[in-house]
Amino acid sequence: MIVGVDYYPEHWPEDRWERDAELMEEAGIGLVRLAEFAWSKMEPEEGSFNFDWLDRAMEVLYSRGIEVVLGTPTAAPPAWIIEEDRSILPVDENGDREGFGARRHYCPNHPRYREHTRRIVKAMGERFGGDPRLVGWQLDNEFSGRCYCDYCKEAFQDWLKEKYGSLEELNEEWGTIFWSQEYGEWEEIPLPTTRARAHNPGLHLDYYRFSSDSWVDYQDLQLEALRPTLGDERVTHNFMFAGFTGIDYSELGEELDFLSWDNYPLISGEPRTERAAAAHDLARGLGGTGFWVMEEQSGPSGWNVVSATPRPGQIKLWSYQALARGADGIVFFRWRTCRVGTEQYWHGVLDHHGEPGRRYDEVKEFAREMEEVGKEITPDRVPVEVALIKDYETGWAFEIQPNSTELDYEEEGLAHYHGFHRLNVPLDVITPGEDFSDYGALIAPNLYLVNEELRKRLERFVRGGGTLILSYRSGVKESRNNKVVNQLLPGELRQLVGAHVEEYTTLGGSPWGEGKAGEGPAIEFLPHPLGSMSGRARVWADRLKLDRARPLALYRSGPWEGEPAASINEYGAGTVIYLGSGLPRNMHRGLAYWLKERMELSGAAETPAGVEAVWRGEGDEAVLYLLNHNAEEVTLSLQEDLKELKSGERREEITLSPYGVALFRR
Ligand code: GAL
Ligand code: ZN
Repeated sequence: MIVGVDYYPEHWPEDRWERDAELMEEAGIGLVRLAEFAWSKMEPEEGSFNFDWLDRAMEVLYSRGIEVVLGTPTAAPPAWIIEEDRSILPVDENGDREGFGARRHYCPNHPRYREHTRRIVKAMGERFGGDPRLVGWQLDNEFSGRCYCDYCKEAFQDWLKEKYGSLEELNEEWGTIFWSQEYGEWEEIPLPTTRARAHNPGLHLDYYRFSSDSWVDYQDLQLEALRPTLGDERVTHNFMFAGFTGIDYSELGEELDFLSWDNYPLISGEPRTERAAAAHDLARGLGGTGFWVMEEQSGPSGWNVVSATPRPGQIKLWSYQALARGADGIVFFRWRTCRVGTEQYWHGVLDHHGEPGRRYDEVKEFAREMEEVGKEITPDRVPVEVALIKDYETGWAFEIQPNSTELDYEEEGLAHYHGFHRLNVPLDVITPGEDFSDYGALIAPNLYLVNEELRKRLERFVRGGGTLILSYRSGVKESRNNKVVNQLLPGELRQLVGAHVEEYTTLGGSPWGEGKAGEGPAIEFLPHPLGSMSGRARVWADRLKLDRARPLALYRSGPWEGEPAASINEYGAGTVIYLGSGLPRNMHRGLAYWLKERMELSGAAETPAGVEAVWRGEGDEAVLYLLNHNAEEVTLSLQEDLKELKSGERREEITLSPYGVALFRR
C-alpha cells in the first residue's frame, strides 16, 4: 500500500525541503510524485539540462525513506518552446489558436513539439532511469483536448487513407453525396471546425476517433523515448474521469504498466461520492485491481473560488473508498498549498504557511492505519459479477448528435450505476472491447454504435446464460461510419431483444402526453417480476412492438398508454431486457434489485442511504468496508457475524461515526 503526496519542490526555497521531508516522514508518507510541470527548470534552454536540483530534492526525500514517481513535464511547455514556433499552440474548434499562459497548450501531432517531447523525456530517462529512488513514471498530466490545426488536418487525412484505403470507399461510407460533399482529393477533406455549421456525422466521428488515437500515439512516443532507460520502474498516466471523455482510455491504458487517476469528489455542492465510486470501478474495469489515485483531494479545491473544506474524516473516507474498490496507492494532492500561480487556492495537506494542521493530522492518521492494516485490507481481487459498459465511441457519437436535448450518455450510465451502487452490488465499468464472458450480467445503456462483431459477442454472452440490459437508442448506427442502420431498431440487436421499435419520440423539451415540457409519460413495471413500480419516462420514449419478448413495463399515460415501454426476452439460456425510455432513479433501483434477487448476486448487505458497503477480496481474505458518507452517525446491522479489524471484536451491529469507516473480516 502506497501513501504519498504530490510535491513541487521547485515552488519552494531549497532550504525548506528538509523540513518538508521531515514532516512527510513524520506523517508516514512513503512516496512523492515530482516534476510533472517543471520543464522550464529542467531545461531552461534547448538541450541544456538542469536536473541537479531534482536530484538534490530526491536525495533529501529518499534519505527519509520517501520514494519517487517522476512526471514528464510535457503538459507545460515553457515559453521558449512556444516563442520559437507558435504553431505548437493548439487550435480550437472555432479555428482560434490558443495563447501561452496556462498549460496543455500544445498539439500532440506537431512535429517540432514531438521533437521537444522526445528530447526532454529521453534526457530525464537517461538521467534518472533505473535510479533506485524511483518506483515509477507518470507521462504528461491528464491528456485531453482536440486540436484543429493544419498539422492535425494532414495527419487526419493520412489516418483516413489508412482507414478507408480509397476516396471511393470514404465517400460511400460517409455518404458524401449529401450536400455535394464528394471528395476527389484527400487534401479536400476538412476538419469539423465550427466554421462549417453541421458536419457530416461520419467525418465528425472519425475526427474524434483520430483525436483519441493522436493522444495514444503521443503517449507511445513518450513510452518509446523512456522505456530503454528504465530499470524496475512502472509507467502510468494520470487519467481523469469527470468530464474527460475525449480519449478512449481502454486504448490509452493498454501500454501502461498500471493505471492511475485523479479524484476530486468535492468541487462544489455536496461531495460526488457515487460518481467517485463509479470512476474507481472504471479504473478497475480498465486496469484491474491495483490502480492508484495519483491525486486524491486533501483540502478545499479551487483556483479563484474556494470549495468547502473537507469535513473531518472525509479525506480518509474518500481514500478508503478508493481502497475498497481496488486501489493500492493513494497520493494526496498536493503536499503544500502554493503561494503563487493559478492554483493558489487549490489546497493541499498543508496550508500556505506550511505548518501541520488538521488535514495533516488526518493524512497522518490514514498513513498510520495503512502501516497497520494496508496490506491486509487490499487483497488482489474485487469480486464482481456484473459489468456496466461504457463505450467511448458511443459517447462521441452522442456528443456530435445528442438525439435528445436531455440525453447525456455519461449521465445515463451513472443512472444505471446508481441502482446497483445503492444496493451495494459491485459493478465493473468496462469498455465493449473487454472480454465480458465471465460476468453474469451486462448493462449496456444506449448502445448506439453496434457492429457485427459486438453483436455476435453479445449473442454468445446471452446464449450462454448471461443477462443483458439494453436501452433506447441502441443499435441505431453502424459503428464504422456513423450511418443510421437500414433495419428496424434496435438494428443488429433486434433478434436479441425480441422486439422492435415501432416509433419513437424525444422527451427533450417537447410536451408528450402530459402537456408539460420535458416531462415524459408515466411508465410502470408490471407487477411481476419487478414488483409494481412506476415513475415518469425521461429523455426519450420508444413505442415497442413485441416479436417474441414479453412486456416488462407499460406506458400508463400519453398517446401510447397501455403499450409496452420495456421488454424482456429469453434468448438461448439467457435474458435480454430492453428499456424503451430513460428511467427515474427509483425504477433504476427496482431494476437492480430485480437482477440482484434473480441472479442471487453476492455483494454486501443493503445499507441506509449514504452508506457504502463493499467487499474486497474473496474467501478468507475478504474484507468488508463500511463507509459512512453522511454527516450523521449511523447504526446498522451487518446481517452476519463479522470481526471488526480495529477492535478485534466480533459483532453483528456497528455504529459508524459521521464520515466514519469500519473494516471487517469473516
Ligand atoms: C488536477 C491536475 C493537477 C491540478 C489539480 C487541481 O486535475 O492534474 O495538476 O491542476 O487538478 O486543479
Ligand atoms: Zn494540431
